[in-house]
Amino acid sequence: MSLVLDAAAQDLLFREARTANTFTDEPVTDEQVRAIYDLVKYGPTSMNQSPLRVTLVRSPEARERLVQHLAEGNRSKTAAAPLVAILSADNEFHEELPHLFPHFPQAKDAVFGERPVREGSAALNAALQAAYFIIGVRAAGLAAGPMTGLDFEGVRKEFLDDDHTPLMVVNIGRPGPDAWFPRSPRLEFEQVVTTV
Ligand SMILES: Cc1cc2nc3c(=O)[nH]c(=O)nc-3n(C[C@H](O)[C@H](O)[C@H](O)COP(=O)(O)O)c2cc1C
Repeated sequence: MSLVLDAAAQDLLFREARTANTFTDEPVTDEQVRAIYDLVKYGPTSMNQSPLRVTLVRSPEARERLVQHLAEGNRSKTAAAPLVAILSADNEFHEELPHLFPHFPQAKDAVFGERPVREGSAALNAALQAAYFIIGVRAAGLAAGPMTGLDFEGVRKEFLDDDHTPLMVVNIGRPGPDAWFPRSPRLEFEQVVTTV
């Protein structure tokens, strides 16, 4: 009763949504990915820095190169998924900051002039955006299969550059047969929330 989001949307985004391990052959179009991004780009980040970058792995050749860097248990489902995205953090996000945070344009150099500061901030905020992205995939009626079981340095060298840090790889599509493990328990409110 306390939530204003309608119950069907709550189910779609959270209660009924699952992490998929198999997918149907139905393609995921660029239009769907654009619709997902154009929704989740409004998720908040520190100083609106928006460091998430998304690399869509579409060609069979690129898919093959990616699969080699995944943990064994993540390979076959990634090879078969309709779409795979590499989510990364742009450690040079500050170049866009005068545009993205126009009421404090000096932040580009005054706050984010040092690379280690940028890397820490990009890691946190791109991870937030990765979570928004996963929920956005669900909002499109699709299922996501995020993975961190991979050789991060290998993925970075293969697909990115020194300015980008890979966060995770996400399989995207409609769930196929036996798509998920039994639902695992979650921590209860009392285990997580304290009040001071
Ligand atoms: C950041 C992240 C990394 C994950 N890495 C892997 C992985 O490498 N391989 C895998 O099979 N599942 C991976 N998972 C899936 C989780 O185990 C799964 O989302 C979790 O158990 C909840 O499952 P449910 O959504 O079906 O309830 C990952 C999930 C997240 C969010």
